[in-house]
Amino acid sequence: MLEKIAIITMMIFCSSLAASPSNAQQQTDAHARQWWQNAVFYEIYPRSFADSNNDGIGDLNGITSKLDYLHELGVDAIWITPCFPSPQVDFGYDVSDYEAIDPMYGTMQDFDRLVSEAKKRNIRVILDFVVNHTSDQHKWFLDSRSSKTSKYRDWYIWRDGKNGGPPNNWQSEFGVPAWTFDKKTGQYYYNYFYPQQPDLNWRNPAVKDAMLDVTRFWYKRGVAGFRLDAVDTLFEDPNLTDNPPSPGKDKFGRPNFARIYNTKLPEVHGALQDLRKIADQYDAVLIGETWTKDITELKNYYGENSNELQMPMDLMFGTVNKLSAPEFRRQIAAVDTAGGWPVFVISNHDMVRSYNRYGDGVHNDEIAKLMASLYLTLRGSPIMYYGEELGMQNNDPKRKEDVKDPQGITGWPGEIGRDGERTPMQWSDAKNAGFSTTKPWLPVPPSYNTHNVAAESKDPNSILSVYRQLLAIRHNEPALLNGSYTALNDDDPNVLSYLRKDKNEAIVVLLNMSNSPQKIKLNLAPQGFASPKLTVLLSTFQQPTSAAAADTVELPPFGALITKITK
Ligand code: GLC
Ligand code: CA
Repeated sequence: MLEKIAIITMMIFCSSLAASPSNAQQQTDAHARQWWQNAVFYEIYPRSFADSNNDGIGDLNGITSKLDYLHELGVDAIWITPCFPSPQVDFGYDVSDYEAIDPMYGTMQDFDRLVSEAKKRNIRVILDFVVNHTSDQHKWFLDSRSSKTSKYRDWYIWRDGKNGGPPNNWQSEFGVPAWTFDKKTGQYYYNYFYPQQPDLNWRNPAVKDAMLDVTRFWYKRGVAGFRLDAVDTLFEDPNLTDNPPSPGKDKFGRPNFARIYNTKLPEVHGALQDLRKIADQYDAVLIGETWTKDITELKNYYGENSNELQMPMDLMFGTVNKLSAPEFRRQIAAVDTAGGWPVFVISNHDMVRSYNRYGDGVHNDEIAKLMASLYLTLRGSPIMYYGEELGMQNNDPKRKEDVKDPQGITGWPGEIGRDGERTPMQWSDAKNAGFSTTKPWLPVPPSYNTHNVAAESKDPNSILSVYRQLLAIRHNEPALLNGSYTALNDDDPNVLSYLRKDKNEAIVVLLNMSNSPQKIKLNLAPQGFASPKLTVLLSTFQQPTSAAAADTVELPPFGALITKITK
């Protein structure tokens, strides 16, 4: 199949309606392109990528040793989730020193070497900045909790209790109380996540200045930007107004509340603007972990004058949980017209892997290739998650005693936590998937025998081979990098079709999201192609060899076809 690329030429006629690119899109395209708009990002969970010293936990030298793999894959930037000193209560998202490397992951020299080796391969390094909270072992918090008159007291959110209980009814995201009583000073501190993750007080200018300095520290070491963790929760209502109840219960069985007084406060935009001013001095990018309920909310994160996040993640796209052409079409259209540069993600360290979410149990590998063909050919920057290019699947804990993520320990069995999507990278069919010679911190799933880098590198039809080709095409085709997005056949319930068009080039992507064969008729005349020929750039299925001059394209179940238009 893949070796048959570019052998078919099809003439396309027939009818359909198609929209033209929006003004917002044209405006964005008119601006000079930035490096991060051309880049494919790749998220690395350092505990699980490669273990160079065989202690069962991945490390920075492990990542450095795999840079050639990433370069050959076609990755332009890696985002490393927190690798700073941390008690590891939330596996690094509880930082006890923002300006150092956790010894478990290596040294600052190892980090510098990683950045310079990456640079040689044109790979930029993005770090994860946990802006909302520190670890309770951070020196700022240790000082803060030591006395009510500590210089650092107001760096966190301390309040008296009310009626013998916490100051108000706010709840932690992680199924525990959001206020933790501290005997020593007789007050409560606020923690949106675990009690070991006290929230910083961003209303204190000293906190803001210290955090801005952290970004300068890393930019000077060659870091190309940050993924900002949990930005929605940076500010809280200073009056501590109770949140109103909302229907139903949460995943921990607690009554729901609408989190209007402790998430998404307008003040967050000021903080993002300050972070952005510094990022701009270093040509750096800010990526946001932005959980938004609709496009209006997402739009706000770009900033009214495009002066906040360049890349707020569209996590609404990432949480579409079933294959549906109309639903993806709707999501893409929404973000495409939002006015900023779209950011597409289908998996990460907090979300069940895409292989499990979209797989039907029969065509899982085909579906993995289909999803790759979708989010790697859209207008915007994709962020891959390590192992997604192999078809790695979740390996969820079966017993409570095996759970590592405290969220799963608290929530078991209703909420099993996030261990399943954080298992070691599958390098080969050797013991522990070639990740480590020691038992890894999380177990690899049995599928590592077939779904691993070594085996898939040899197979031209593997998921990995499709990813490699997709990334190569993406980098070589101006229409995919710069082109506008136009939905085609937008009433088709099964096949998602679109045109990516640059000045002189155009590409048509056809994705069968159904489990039955589909015939597609296209009319590209309204797009300026009266009698176009389509040359296949990539197909995930066996091509008929004599399809010349067909007026209809046929796709097998879950088939993906990417073609280039030649006039
Ligand atoms: C973000 C991270 C998640 C972490 C949480 C608290 O959501 O992605 O892994 O647990 O923030 O820092
Ligand atoms: Ca190690």
